[in-house]
Amino acid sequence: MDRFDAVWVNARLATMTHGRPYGAIDDGAIAVKDGLIAWVGPRAALPDGGEIQHDAGGRWITPGLIDCHTHLVFGGDRAEEFEMRLNGATYEEIARAGGGIASSVTRTRAASEDQLYQSGARRLKALMSEGVTTVEIKSGYGLDIENEAKMLRVARRLGATLPATVITTFLGAHAMPPGFEGQSSDYIALVAGPMMDRIVAENLADAVDVFAESIAFSPEEAAIVFEAARRHGLPVKLHADQLSDQGGAALAARFGALSAEHLEYASEAGIAAMGEAGTVAVLLPGAYYFLRDTTMPPIAAMRRHGVDIAIASDCNPGSSPAVSLLLMLNMACTLFRLTPEEALSGVTRVAAKALGLNDRGILETGKRADFVLWDVSHPAELSYWIGAKPAHRIVRGGGILEMSP
Ligand code: NIG
Ligand code: FE
Repeated sequence: MDRFDAVWVNARLATMTHGRPYGAIDDGAIAVKDGLIAWVGPRAALPDGGEIQHDAGGRWITPGLIDCHTHLVFGGDRAEEFEMRLNGATYEEIARAGGGIASSVTRTRAASEDQLYQSGARRLKALMSEGVTTVEIKSGYGLDIENEAKMLRVARRLGATLPATVITTFLGAHAMPPGFEGQSSDYIALVAGPMMDRIVAENLADAVDVFAESIAFSPEEAAIVFEAARRHGLPVKLHADQLSDQGGAALAARFGALSAEHLEYASEAGIAAMGEAGTVAVLLPGAYYFLRDTTMPPIAAMRRHGVDIAIASDCNPGSSPAVSLLLMLNMACTLFRLTPEEALSGVTRVAAKALGLNDRGILETGKRADFVLWDVSHPAELSYWIGAKPAHRIVRGGGILEMSP
């Protein structure tokens, strides 16, 4: 029996492990066996045993990219609200007037499962064409039992039919649905009770998320949903402190959340608590940009308190209609002043941590053989170009994807 199924040689590896910048190995090789990385290191030390040899042509190889925060399953779009905002309305005003998330809820409820699958697949394929091999997809535009389950079934089906790993997150507490005006405690009881029971019974969610915000739910309500998630053994995450300081970062930390997302208005104390808890900060420069926010997330505090930073697209119809994770790398650097190395870690090693996955995100023996060959001469180019399509070949579970660009 061959020791390896295939060996990739003549590559420069950005392993994204600690130590050297990018964990770089100059003249590197990766051996693959049964979908996993069986060996990785300098080519000169490569043991014998590769049947098939692939020449990477001196290209850089990174781990497959991970988009750890998306809402890419939804009906319709919100281009008309984009126009309203350009005519003077704010995101919050539109939301309070019954638009915003609620208008996507109407369109998502009206859509069939097949329609949601088709439009979701288009967006997921756009992400994948840039080298994304793992993506998280949230519910949150159904807001009743049937429609939340429908969204999550579509997300599961995307993962089952397309060559990407899909991690699903139940975000029933995304906004108050029509019919529950002024009864948020009733709605939260539904989310934390029968809705979550059903989602769990059908194994539709890998994690639970809540939007804690003045236009959504209070920290106390988020805590009720988190308690229920805990009873079901599901990890939690939080849309925290995006538009105002709600104490979301500290709440996420208190529940040992995998991640807290957005965080533009998070306090230093909240960030410190996240550092203590090992909760990842997921930054979403697409939403910051698209809503023309001017309050930066507290990056310096994150660095000071040792909070790991991930970057994601937040692909959604209202605040970040983005289907390019590489553009988010560029924005993370230009808008948030992250370094290109931090940005790349944020869509590989740290993004895996934000999803609770320890089988991917770095090039290391035993991890999944998900990696990308790039037509770049330095990994910083992945953050530098705008609109380039630098992915040369995408390998997932050891196999070359046919849809490779
Ligand atoms: O991540 N912040 C809450 N949820 C989404 C926006 C959803 C929407 O506007 O449709 C976000 O930005
Ligand atoms: Fe989001």
